[in-house]
Amino acid sequence: MQRFIENMPKAELHVHIEGTLEPELSFALAKKNKVELSYETPEALISAYDFNDLPSFLAIYYAGMNVLVEEDDFYQLTYQYLSKARSQEILYVEIFFDPQAHTVRGISFETIITGIHKAQVDAEKKLGIKSQLIMCFLRDMSAESAMQHLVLAKPHLDWLVGVGLDSDERNNPPSKFYEVFSEAKKWGLKLTMHCDVNQKNTLVHIKQCINEVQVDRIDHGINSLESNELCDLIKEKGLGLTVCPVSNQFVVQSLTSDEIHQMLAKDMLVTINSDDPAYFRAYLNENLIELQKEGKFSQDQIITLVSNAFKVAWIDDDTKENYLQQLQRYVSEYNLQHLN
Ligand code: ADE
Ligand code: ZN
Repeated sequence: MQRFIENMPKAELHVHIEGTLEPELSFALAKKNKVELSYETPEALISAYDFNDLPSFLAIYYAGMNVLVEEDDFYQLTYQYLSKARSQEILYVEIFFDPQAHTVRGISFETIITGIHKAQVDAEKKLGIKSQLIMCFLRDMSAESAMQHLVLAKPHLDWLVGVGLDSDERNNPPSKFYEVFSEAKKWGLKLTMHCDVNQKNTLVHIKQCINEVQVDRIDHGINSLESNELCDLIKEKGLGLTVCPVSNQFVVQSLTSDEIHQMLAKDMLVTINSDDPAYFRAYLNENLIELQKEGKFSQDQIITLVSNAFKVAWIDDDTKENYLQQLQRYVSEYNLQHLN
């Protein structure tokens, strides 16, 4: 199963580019930009990663970003992630970025988005990995700030496929951002929002995402299983759910394999993703491999999880079909080899 998973053609739909900042790159950038880190070595930094809920993770995640200053820093961050993704047979990625986490530190919007975009273009050309960009708003900041950042993005609308909502969910419901998401939709952008596992008022938040904001996808969304009404809505609207097993494990001490089994049994379009792989020390393959071990998923179920990611990706139907055929060919060849 491990080899089968590692070599499968895959897509990733939930990865925060700032969450791919590896300690080695962090140290190199800190030295170049003369930013002080509180730890002596990358290993010491990793051993200080201590989170058990969303706020304790976010504190470490935002502190880590201080080393990202110049356009080339964002370029390197993105190119390194895309190289890693390609080495895991990921063919297509939708990447989140958090511009407000940088503009509050005095970094210009142009610097951030240009560095990321140039790396996407180069990675497609040199490595053959396709990617699209999703701009996330920080829900613990104001709706006005979100709108200001949407306006900042207008000259680069072609570089974005959608907008998302992340950061601390507590007392920051989807409805707070209704206007900015409505505006983004008018501009032709796709919509997604985080509904992290076990958050306060999670069922209200999921319902607002679907009925008020009318999102095209939900990030996480595990708790929807607590409501038949929400599961039915998600199915009826064909909404993809970008679930992140290792990320969940830090909060609920399980890779949520039971929940993923339940979603598959209900034919919900659940996908597997890495979220913040440098912090959680698990990229997409490790997420799938660990999940398979915990939940004893069959080969068919793993194929469904990976196919779902291509199915709910924000790409045209021909491209989608092409990826799905590539996956099908891989499975046929793999099974042929293993029958002989
Ligand atoms: N930012 C980065 N990762 C996140 C997550 N899992 N939830 C909310 N905000 C995030
Ligand atoms: Zn996330």
